[in-house]
Amino acid sequence: MTERLSLPGALVQRLRGAQRWTVLTGAGISAESGVPTFRGAGGLWEGVRPEELASPEGFRTDPERVWRWYRHRRDLMRRVEPNAGHRAIARLESHVAAFCLVTQNVDGLHARAGSRRILELHGNILRSHCFAQCGAETPEDETAVVPRCRCGAPLRPSVVWFGERLPQGVFEESCREMQDCDVCLVVGTSGIVYPAASLPQVASVAGAALIEVNPEPTPLSSLCTAALRGPAAKLLPALLSEIGMDKEPVLPPGV
Ligand code: OAD
Repeated sequence: MTERLSLPGALVQRLRGAQRWTVLTGAGISAESGVPTFRGAGGLWEGVRPEELASPEGFRTDPERVWRWYRHRRDLMRRVEPNAGHRAIARLESHVAAFCLVTQNVDGLHARAGSRRILELHGNILRSHCFAQCGAETPEDETAVVPRCRCGAPLRPSVVWFGERLPQGVFEESCREMQDCDVCLVVGTSGIVYPAASLPQVASVAGAALIEVNPEPTPLSSLCTAALRGPAAKLLPALLSEIGMDKEPVLPPGV
């Protein structure tokens, strides 16, 4: 059964009328699909030095270890399914005039849930490219421990590692979307990894309503118009129901 939220009536009216929405997601949105988050008990960074697995230096030092870790995560991500939180975000997109989903996640679950306009800030774990950036389109040999590019250099997963730049233009586009939105939903992120964590601040300074969905408070909470404390797969469908965006949108005849 869909939970009832106790949002103030004025905020519900504001959200119902808002036409330009952005959403920023982090690992927490996929937690209920069975994908571990990074921080906290049982998180991916627990007991490991992140730079050993997620930096160019770590890859140069031990590419086999890095690939083993990413294969393990890829295998997991191929087995899991989008959850009600991912689906609620896809549904929201079909109800509003302008929409942009900015995600820090590399698991591809938003696209599988039906989201269309997605900016992937940290890349996608299911893709690879040449570590030497030779530019060749290389089909991947899934059997090699360290797959190789046609040019002979190792391939690497197409995710952003510590010390690397975000994919060209993606952050700039995300900033523009945040500046222009009426509402920014911030879902399942600890809000401590920059520059992603600056995006809700951009939206807030530009006058958008900021709604956080997270069981725990974060450094972004103090900026928020409302904080919904609980799991995304439960609270996002509840939010959509509260603002009348939980059904298939009715399109005008001829569309
Ligand atoms: P974190 O692991 O830092 O934070 C996950 C957040 O999700 C926490 O604030 C949790 O309270 C929250 N959470 C847990 N379960 C949830 C649920 N069911 N519903 C909603 N929220 C829930 O993950 P990110 O903020 O995504 O970067 O981490 C940011 C970046 O740090 C990642 O993209 C990754 C990592 O290093 C790179 O790999 C470049």
